[in-house]
Amino acid sequence: MRVIRTENYEAMSAQVAALIAAQVIAKPDCVLGLATGSTPIGAYARLVEWRQKGGLSFAGVRTVNLDEYYELPPEHEQSYRHFMQINLFDHVDILPENTNLPDGLAPDPETECDRYDALIDALGGCDLQLLGLGHNGHIGFNEPGPVFVLPTHLAFLTESTINANSRLFASKEEVPRMALTMGIRGIMKAKRVVVAVSGADKAEAVARAFAGPVNPEVPASILQLHPDVVLVGDRAALSGLEE
Ligand code: GLP
Repeated sequence: MRVIRTENYEAMSAQVAALIAAQVIAKPDCVLGLATGSTPIGAYARLVEWRQKGGLSFAGVRTVNLDEYYELPPEHEQSYRHFMQINLFDHVDILPENTNLPDGLAPDPETECDRYDALIDALGGCDLQLLGLGHNGHIGFNEPGPVFVLPTHLAFLTESTINANSRLFASKEEVPRMALTMGIRGIMKAKRVVVAVSGADKAEAVARAFAGPVNPEVPASILQLHPDVVLVGDRAALSGLEE
């Protein structure tokens, strides 16, 4: 694992954006696995800036997002589809048909999960998978549990995740209790994984994920077994890892 320590959120965002841009430049028709949450917003803003300055094109890029809330319509302002549109897709030259998220309104979640895994397979897996990290060590919506759940699945959000995400909803009651998430297999299939972390509140999760035992109670710990992980974090988030 490579660790990139930065001074602050802005520098972390610039590093993450540079890794993504390098991937797109090296392979213009690459498959990017994308994440939502507050952490990647700055990196997406840098990519939009570089696109608008003219150098970077997403015309051939295909994207596969990690997750989507179950039963939240795509036009809902907290849906992950909406998040991706306003933070990235609407401002770059990516083709709408090349952007993929699980369909939170699919009538049969099981069929939708199978479709999503078949799509990931058909694309050959992700060239680069971007991840944030939940306070309880979750990645995507792979929550702590007795086993690593491998396929795309319908996940029940833990209390910790509902509390963390309630800041974005009018009230805690409005946070969906379920989500469709890429499973551990889809994530581990990526050729490269970039994990972005920021802030002292993530320090404990970072230490448990990357300096503790590999354990499904800390889903991100599986990344210790991936051959190409780049952990990009500011000093506060990485304070629990030795230099
Ligand atoms: C959410 C998302 C994750 C994200 C995590 C951390 O629950 N499903 O993909 O990484 O929360 O979010 P944040 O970056 O806002 O701390």
